[in-house]
Formats: sequence, structure tokens, C-alpha cells
Amino acid sequence: MTMLENKIYEQFRSKFDREPLLINSPGRVNLMGDHTDYNDGFVLPAAIDKVIVLGIGGNKLGKIRAFSADMNESVVMDLNDLHKSDKHWANYIKGVAVELQKKKFKLKGFDVVFGGNIPIGAGLSSSAALEGALTVGLGKLFKLKLGRKEMARIGQLTEHNHVGVNCGIMDQFINLHGEPDKALKLDCRSLEYDLYPFHQEDTKIVLCNSRVSHNLADSEYNVRRSQCEKGVQHLKKYDPQIKNLRDVSMELLQEHKGEMDPVVFRRCKFVLEENERVHMGCEDLSKNDLSAFGRRMFESHEGLSKDYEVSCEELDILVELAKEQEGLIGCRMMGGGFGGCTINLVKESQVASFTDAVSKAYEQRTGIEAEIYVTRINGGAHIVES
Ligand code: GLA
Repeated sequence: MTMLENKIYEQFRSKFDREPLLINSPGRVNLMGDHTDYNDGFVLPAAIDKVIVLGIGGNKLGKIRAFSADMNESVVMDLNDLHKSDKHWANYIKGVAVELQKKKFKLKGFDVVFGGNIPIGAGLSSSAALEGALTVGLGKLFKLKLGRKEMARIGQLTEHNHVGVNCGIMDQFINLHGEPDKALKLDCRSLEYDLYPFHQEDTKIVLCNSRVSHNLADSEYNVRRSQCEKGVQHLKKYDPQIKNLRDVSMELLQEHKGEMDPVVFRRCKFVLEENERVHMGCEDLSKNDLSAFGRRMFESHEGLSKDYEVSCEELDILVELAKEQEGLIGCRMMGGGFGGCTINLVKESQVASFTDAVSKAYEQRTGIEAEIYVTRINGGAHIVES
């Protein structure tokens, strides 16, 4: 057991006086393809070595008793009468339980203790990790006939219906399907996926946490979704087969540029280009051509910042500073945006100087102390065998 697994195991035992089933559930990075998932497009995420560990066991009380080790907070909820909680984290637990019950899965009372080292609000999908851990745990505990794709949908529905974020499927999917040393290219329409090798010996994935999370993130996320839908509504007139931006070609989009709201046009153009970058980026990975992959990361950031407008000053500064460092192969903001992390591919031999220089310069420019993590690609959510 890891130290974290051991800690959660002991906390569960001391709170509930029996042994838990333990689940280890990762956060994620996204190498390429942001804001494409809800457009039925393509993404290239990977699960990482920052995780949540969740201990779970049944109780005979018809209640959910949950404890967040990191917040040092408890909730007790009645399984048959679940309401919105004033504790944000508890709504993920309630949401998963409600969504499973909606699908006619039979739950009984259960106890949960969880904690981890995925920084919250850093865009590394700690919430998907919690949803995934709980779904895997409940699946095992109550012998639910539930495949991993369906589990990912449960997490996504939890976000939509209990948290208020109209997210795509990327974060929940990679949490449940990630594999060590591989990036996963997901077709967000069919949910089919391919794995691509990511060699981590000479190149490190370095995450620079801007330590800001602007509170427009959730509302602007939903605005972006509706702008993409507007684009689809318009273009559909010319081809009834178009269901989503996935079905739109660059030729068609350019042809109708003049009729479109310029903002909507830019949003659509970005999504089409970003999908293409995922396809091409996967070819780069197959050839182990990280320099080509890195150049696409810079383009991706440019698009996210200028055309899709989901970056912010702090993220742009982090990218700018990273570009000044030796050993940088590629970097971009990552995830929903308006804060959180940039993802940087850095030559192993330069990681220490990179980290040092970027954090110093970032603090000088913004007054904020960045947090920098060197991370590894790991496997998806799994039960910890004792
Ligand atoms: C958030 C959402 C994902 C995805 C990314 C942007 O992480 O949860 O579904 O849309 O933003 O790529």
C-alpha cells in the first residue's frame, strides 16, 4: 500500500471500526484537444500519478456517511431522501448515488472516507477522480453490472445535474480508462479509443499551476458550449447531416464565414483546428516525434487564448515564460481554462532549471507563487488489492 492508501485505510478503520474496500483514482492531464469533447470531437488525455484514495464499506442504516480527510468534514445523508448539501464535495457523492439510482441500480447504505493529493481547482480533475472512485467502489460493493463507459457517464451526469457544469466526457473517461505510459485518443462520439505510447524517460510532463481559478470558469464554459451549438444551428441549414461541430468541414465553415457572428465563427474554427491537432499529434507520438508534437501544443495554446478565449493573463504569462527556457519542447494551457495549469513537455536534463526559472519569474510578474509538479502517466481508477 502507498502511504496515502494506508492513511485512508486507517482513518476508515478508526471511524467505522471495520476494514474498507480501497480505490485508487487518478487525476488527469490533457496533451491535446481542449473544448473538443462536448463537440463530439477528439481528445488526448492521460491519467497521472496524483490521486484520490477512497475507502468504502456497506452499512445497514440506509444512510451515506462520508468523511473528507482533507477538509476534515463529515456528512450524513439519507439514501432515500438525498438533497443538495452545503458542502461542495458532498454533492459529488450524492450525485453519483442519485444517478446510479435513476438508472435502477440498487444501493444500500454505505460509508466513505476519502482524501488525496490532486490539487483542487488546478484543472487536474479531482472531481472526476472522486466520481470515478465512488462509482468503482459502489460497483464492487453492491455487485452492480456496470461497465467502465457507463461509469464515466454517471460521473458526467453528476457534474451536469448536481454540480452545474455542463462538461464533456473527457475527464471521467480517462479517469476510468487510463494506462501507464500511454496517452489515450478518445473519439467522444463513439467512445472508441486508441492508446499511443508516451516515452517518459527523456521527457517529463511538468505542470505549472497558476494558482488562480477565476470564478467565471463555469459560466464561461457553458457560454462556449452554446456558442458552438449556435454555429451548428447555422451550418446545419447547408447540410442536414450536421449534428455537431464534428461533422463540419473547414471548407464549409469558411464558405459561410460572412453570414456568421464573428465570435461564433472563431469558436467553431478553433474546434475544427484543435480536432485536427489531435489527429496529427497522435501521428507524431507514433513516430516518437515530440518536437512536432510540441509545436502543435504552442498552436493549441494560441487558439485557446485568441480564438476560443478561455485562457487568462496568468496562463498566458506561464506559457510566455516557459517559452524562454531551454529544454522546453511544447506547452499550452490545459482543461477548461480561466486558471489552473499549463502542461509543459520538458527535457529531463533541464527540468530543475526550468522549474526554478519559471517559478521565480512568475512570482515577479504576478506576485503569485506558482506550484510546479513533475508528473508521470499512470493507470486509471482501480481497486487496491490487499
Ligand atoms: C473541463 C471539462 C471537460 C473538457 C475540458 C476542456 O475539464 O470537464 O469535459 O471539456 O474542460 O477540454
